[in-house]
Order: sequence, then C-alpha cells, then structure tokens
Amino acid sequence: MSISFNKQAQTFKLCAKNTVYMMKIVDEGYLAHLYFGKNIPDDDLTYLLRLDENPFTPATNNRERGSFMDNLTFEYPCFGLGDYRESCINILDADGMSTVDFRYASHKIYSGKPKLSGLPATFANNGEAETIEILMLDKHTGLEATLIYTAFENLDVITRSVTFKNTGSRGVNLTKALSACVHFDHPDFDMITLNGSWARERHIERARLHHGKQSIDSIKGESSHQNNPFVALVSPNTDEDMGDAYGFNLVYSGNFFAQTEVTQHKRTRFVMGINHKDFNWLLEAGEEFVAPEVVMVYSDEGMGKMSRTFHDLYREHLVRGEYKDKRRPILINNWEATYFNFDTDKLIDIAKEASKLGIEMLVMDDGWFGHRDSDNSSLGDWFVYESKIKGGLKYLVDEVNKLGMKFGIWFEPEMISPDSELYKAHPDWAIQIKGRELTQSRQQYVLDYSRKEVRDHIYSMMKKILDSANIEYIKWDMNRQLTEVGSTTLPANRQRELWHRYVLGVYDIMERLQVDYPHILLENCSGGGARFDPGMLYYSPQIWTSDDTDAIERLKIQHGTSMCYPCSAMGAHVSDCPNHTVGRNTPFKTRGHVAMVGTFGYELDVTKIPQEDRDYIPYQIQEFNKYNSLVRTGDHYRIGNTFENIEWDAWMFVAKDKSEALFEFVQVLMRPNYTSRRLKLKGLDPNAYYYEESKPDIKLSGEALMSAGINVPTLWGDYQSAILHFIKA
Ligand code: GLA
Repeated sequence: MSISFNKQAQTFKLCAKNTVYMMKIVDEGYLAHLYFGKNIPDDDLTYLLRLDENPFTPATNNRERGSFMDNLTFEYPCFGLGDYRESCINILDADGMSTVDFRYASHKIYSGKPKLSGLPATFANNGEAETIEILMLDKHTGLEATLIYTAFENLDVITRSVTFKNTGSRGVNLTKALSACVHFDHPDFDMITLNGSWARERHIERARLHHGKQSIDSIKGESSHQNNPFVALVSPNTDEDMGDAYGFNLVYSGNFFAQTEVTQHKRTRFVMGINHKDFNWLLEAGEEFVAPEVVMVYSDEGMGKMSRTFHDLYREHLVRGEYKDKRRPILINNWEATYFNFDTDKLIDIAKEASKLGIEMLVMDDGWFGHRDSDNSSLGDWFVYESKIKGGLKYLVDEVNKLGMKFGIWFEPEMISPDSELYKAHPDWAIQIKGRELTQSRQQYVLDYSRKEVRDHIYSMMKKILDSANIEYIKWDMNRQLTEVGSTTLPANRQRELWHRYVLGVYDIMERLQVDYPHILLENCSGGGARFDPGMLYYSPQIWTSDDTDAIERLKIQHGTSMCYPCSAMGAHVSDCPNHTVGRNTPFKTRGHVAMVGTFGYELDVTKIPQEDRDYIPYQIQEFNKYNSLVRTGDHYRIGNTFENIEWDAWMFVAKDKSEALFEFVQVLMRPNYTSRRLKLKGLDPNAYYYEESKPDIKLSGEALMSAGINVPTLWGDYQSAILHFIKA
C-alpha cells in the first residue's frame, strides 16, 4: 500500500517508489509537514515537529500560540492566525475579513488519480498511483479545502492540488489560492530556476538561499519567456549525478508564483501556485474552485535523475493522443523561409523539393488568412486569403498530399487584430477596460476567452478550415502578453477572475481539438517558447522550444528545457545560415545534430540553400530516423554544460534496457594544440560490454566507459559536432 494513515500517531505516509512524504494532524487539528525525501520504513516521525521544544509550552492546547503558529510546518498555511510566513491562501469574507483557519475534518485514500475539472493534470490508472484527499474546514466561513495528493507507484513523484468549496451561506473571495507548500528543516539549498527572454528561454540560474524571500513569477497571462513555472531546490554539493534534488513544476499555463522563504529559525518554506497578484475569485455559497497541480520530484542522485523522472512522468502520464508514443513527421516550416511573402506556388515549390529529400510534412506558417501580408492585420479572420492561396486551401493541401507529404497549418486563435473583420463586428470581444486606451503588442489584442460565445465562434472558424482539407498538424501560436485585463461581460466583482478564466478558456478549446481531431498533431508555440509548460503538454505532445534556431544558442536553451521537460516534446528545426536571430554560421551537420535532440524538422527555403546542404538532407534524415526512437523513449543524460563551460557540450540518450546509447558532442570553440578530450559516459550497464558502431572490434565494459571515459577527438573548427553510437556486445 503506498498511502497509509497511522491512526494512533495521526500521521500520513505517502510512498512513491523510493520517496516518502509524511504529514501529521497535530492536536489542534492543523495539518503539519513531517518529511519529504528518501524512503524510510517508519510511519511516525512526530519528533521532527519539535512540539515539546521552546518556544512552545508542552501541554496540549496550552502552547504559546503566536510562536507555535509562526513555526509549525503547515501543509497548507493560512493567513491571519500568527503564521507570518508566506501563506497559501488569503480570503476576503462577506464581512471584509481576511483571516482563514483550516483544520482537519476527514480524509479518504483510494487507488488511481482524479481528474482536475477544466485543468490539465498528470494521470494514472488504478495500480499506477494512490491518492489521498484531506478535507480541511474553516468553520467560521464554511470554506472547505480538499488537499489532494497522489503518490506514483513506479516514479519518485508526488503530485498536489487543492479544490475549494464554499459550504457557508455567504460569498467568500479567494484572493490567493496556491497549490502547494513544502517545508525543509534547513536553509542549505541552491535554488535553480529557468529564466530568460524571447529567443533566450530557460537559461539555468542557480543561487544559494538566504534569509527572506526569493521568488519567480509571471503576471503576463502565460507562463512566459522570462520565468518558467519550475524550481529545483538542491543541496549545495548536488550536481548532475549526486546529491539531493527536489523539483517542482506547476501544471499551468498562466500567471504563476513560486517562492522560497528562509525563516527566522533558519528553515525553508517553499510555495507554488497561481500568481495571487491581481487575482480574486468569488466563491458564492455552494461554488467550487480548483487550483492547478504541482508535480514534486525527489532525487537522491542529483539533477540528472530528477530530470529523468520528470521526463518519464510527462511522457507516460501527461502527454496524450495518437502521437504520445509515436515518431513525429519530419516537417518543413516556411516561416524562416518566406516570412509573410509566399503563395501557393512558392509553397508547392518548397514541398516538391522537400519531398524529394525525404521531408514528410509541409507546415504553412503565419500569413495564409484574412488579408495578412504582415503582422499588422487579420488575426481572428480565419478564412483563406484567396489571392495568396490561389486555388484555395484544398487545392494546396491536395497538391502537397500528392507529393506524399502531410500538410500542417498555423493558427493564433487567442488573438484579434484591430484591422480585422472580426474586430469590426465584435470590438467588445477583445480583453479591455472600457474607456481606457488599449495597449497593442505586435499590433494585436487578446480575445476574451472567458466568453463561451467568443471561443465557440473562433473554434467554428477553425473547424471550417480543418474540415475543408486534409490537415494533419496545427501550430497553435500565442504572440503577446495580456494588458488592460478586463472583460466587457463579467460583473465588477468577478473581473479579477479573468486571468484564470482566460487560461481555462484556452484549455477548453485545446481539449475540444483533442476530442474532435484526435489524428491532428498539435504543436504549441508562444513567440517561441513562452508557454513551454506542463499544462500545454497535456494538450500537445510537442512545443516550439524557441524562435532562436541557432544551433549554439539552442545548446543552452535545450539543456535548460531538459531540466524538467522531455526531449520528445522539444520542437527543434534545422534553419538557414547566417542564423536569422544571431547571425551565426554553423555547419549544417551540427544544426542537424542539435535539432535531432527534439522533434526535428527544417525551417528554411530548401529551394535556395546551398546545394551541398540540400544534398546532405537525405543523410541527415536517415540519421534522425536511426536514432529517433532512442531519443524519444530513452534516458537523457547531460554531460556538458555550456552555462559553465563554453568550449564544448555533450549529452547522451541511453535505451531503457541499456542495449544501446547515443553520445552527441558539440565543440563550440576550437582550441589549438589540444589533444582529444576525455569524457566519461553515463547510464550504461557497468557489467555489460559495448562497442562503438564504427569500431566493432574494440569492446569496452560499461564500467570502463563510465569510469575511465572515452577520447573525443578534437574537431577542426568552431561549432563542429560528432555523434557516437554504442551498442551492447
Ligand atoms: C511566432 C512564432 C514563429 C512564427 C511567428 C509567425 O513568433 O514563434 O515561429 O510562427 O510567430 O508570426
């Protein structure tokens, strides 16, 4: 049994593979955190709470309450009672009061994992996970919080979420409703976050905790380029292969908040959930609210194992649909090839050449609808731009299909251009504050997805397009953040709900797409990688990682992204040089090796690139095909780290049964008069013997390859790459 309750000690024990999470109901009915870490046999660790130590007085219910409250490791900390650390919940009740006091009421344990209404979440069948729901009640208002925890049987994963219900007779405003809080008994952690900007997403930052609060968040309406909803807390000596690492990832695609706080007693409180900035949710009597899921991963073998656990969880228990376990078609996208300057003939030219080289799908990017010749018009007018797509969409798709290729299409369904028929007909459909000037970004506004009629209308336009031709892929883009956040239909006391209602609206349409078009492969995108989050992975098995397609910039971006997201989800393309974002020239081969880490495709005008690059494509595709199943399903090991060492990078994919491994190496900077580099492999079977495919006569033990290493030859020039394929003898 993986979740148990010790009635006498009033402790809960959640066991997930080799990880244990423990809590206790203390005498007053508060739920306190006891332990999160390596598996231990005990089920009562009450001593860890130090309930009999100063500053408390020992007798039950005779504690010095203020200090008790400010020290207890509340599982779901409330506000207004003397716990002055960051709370998980704040309310404004019908009397204008903000105090809330949750006490244990009951619990139930069951097999499997519940769905979260309207929200993405990891899933598990009976037998794969166990769940406990702990009901907490604030008697004064009648507000209930159900804390939901799931422990996975075969993964070091505990997930958490919270549902609220107002069982009182008067309304309660939730002004903050985070999803999780975890306590650690010391402050000796480094906090790892994924930060960046457009074209520079998810760069890793690592900093020691100190007294006070360190947080990351988004208030942009999306998870954002700048901060990703991921935090790892690792021991100061933790590296890729050893040491404690705790990873937290919010399964949500809107405003988020994550914070560590080192308290007066040198302990750490970590909280995560929907950003409470500008958040308010009115719960009338009888109403419910669901807070999104936090995935918590524990690793006692460094960051590498933490990442691999996330990868396994997301590949098996988050990504859905036909492409969950399938190789994705090799695509060619016309964005960097043509930008807005294309028509049917140009696309067919590209497709003709691409099909000869082995490329399997043409994706028509931005510019095929309304009268869109630049980014200043037509979003919302999801009908074909006939003078560009001459002969209509069906003709184009049929022609592409005749070449033996699939066809994919770009949409930006959440947006509306001021210059569009949609805006002329429905100016009130944009998110706005009546009477205020609206901020434009990329010359567009955001649609009010909290409104069903808006969503229905956009979806019916999309459906018309999707039903008009054989479309097998959608790139769903989202190219601006939210401003002047107001709805023309919500009442004043519900306006602050719009941030979250917007995200729920986006999820609603993505879910409808999943159900109505199960065969369509959905790739998410947001100005590159501004919505690379687990929420999106629930609806789309792949996400465009970054608008930066430069192979060398991608080393950092893909390394950072792999902290918690599987390589099988990373949209990665070979593009033309000089690179459109950084102007760098890299070898075509290296561009392929770096793109092979992800879903793989091309983003260039194949009719215009140098002949030698074109000639290389069939070989590159062969290489991709050879290794893709290993990349998609294997274990990922980071060996290099270009954040710390700019000279080279390396990584590996090892088959689950350890029968083969792919080693990839990029020499970023050539250094003269160097001998080869000695690098140690990872993840192999130490007792098995392996040979490198090109040298079948030389067999070395996995132990030698991992402990003594291999000699990686110095390559001629900057930005060169090499791959080595190791096979079990
Ligand atoms: C965003 C995407 C690009 C491309 C453009 C089109 O920037 O990230 O890949 O689709 O929009 O406008």
